[in-house]
Amino acid sequence: MPLALLAIESSCDETAAAVINLDGHIASNVISSQHEVHRQYGGVVPELASRSHIEKIESVVREAMSQAQVDWPAIQAIAVTRGPGLAGALVVGVSFGKALAFALGVPWIAVNHLEGHVASAWLDKQVCLTPCVIFIVSGGHTHLYLVPEWGSYELVGRTLDDAAGEAFDKGANMLGLGHPGGPALDRLARTGNPDIVRFPRPYHHKGGLNFSFSGIKTSLLYYLRDRQQEKADVRLEDIAAGYQEAIVEVLIDKAFRAVDHYHVSQLAVVGGVSANSRLRALLSARASANGVQLALPKLEYCTDNAAMIAAAGLQAYHAGRFAAWDLDAVAAG
Ligand code: KG4
Ligand code: ZN
Repeated sequence: MPLALLAIESSCDETAAAVINLDGHIASNVISSQHEVHRQYGGVVPELASRSHIEKIESVVREAMSQAQVDWPAIQAIAVTRGPGLAGALVVGVSFGKALAFALGVPWIAVNHLEGHVASAWLDKQVCLTPCVIFIVSGGHTHLYLVPEWGSYELVGRTLDDAAGEAFDKGANMLGLGHPGGPALDRLARTGNPDIVRFPRPYHHKGGLNFSFSGIKTSLLYYLRDRQQEKADVRLEDIAAGYQEAIVEVLIDKAFRAVDHYHVSQLAVVGGVSANSRLRALLSARASANGVQLALPKLEYCTDNAAMIAAAGLQAYHAGRFAAWDLDAVAAG
């Protein structure tokens, strides 16, 4: 039986566990999503997220062990997302992981959720050499990092208000698409024409490498209000496609501006929004036109999962970076 690490992720609304063999092979990747719990509220309710993690975590971990066909003696360490994320949700994973590690007599590894997302780009054996630009686009982050060498992350651009994922979620909400909004908006926009309704490209020509997505939601709100008054005959899918295009265009332009500015030829785009089909298509086209090496996670590794925590945890394991038993979850990023 190969030796392995167990990884746990519970920073938001997915209860997830994965097993990675010490050679880097993902032996299992189990995700229990809480979408049904939060749908009626139109967004993630932190208290309900914590309760749901408590209910699910043991069965999710058991399922990951069973799918990987490993027994407890094979587990050499337990990697857990320590933060950033929802405090109560993180505490469930950290407490469970620490207790299990203690009982098994193995160390635990505290993984930064963002480093987990970064590691997701390499789970598929895609290589990104340094120096590179790493772009984390998720529900909580829109962060551009210059990475001169591994382990050194220089934040060179970020959102000044909402994250790109929030702009997708809130836009989807206004369009009546429910929760989670990003994937639903992506699906609807696939049948729409992005050129019928043109939304302003927020912060496109200002703010350097920073972003701002709060204004675009207001534009959509006004557009929908006027449309109702004027009974304009514009299809919902065209509005969705136009709205998505405005977000995606700014994300891509600024990512490539960072690549140009820092004279790097490698770009990795990770996080939930990197699952967006339009973003992936336009990024790939732009990367090949510009001779830029692009690393994108496989779809299953874009949104929160424990395989990415396992991959980041494995790097820490090989470097001997284990966590103290009194280390706690930390919500802030
Ligand atoms: O990385 P993630 O699972 O959680 C955070 O760390 O935030 O990202 C979740 C975000 C949500 O805002 C969700 O709507 C967005 O990623 N998302 C998408 C798509 N799939 C997930 N946004 C646009 N298009 C998608 N296909
Ligand atoms: Zn995430």
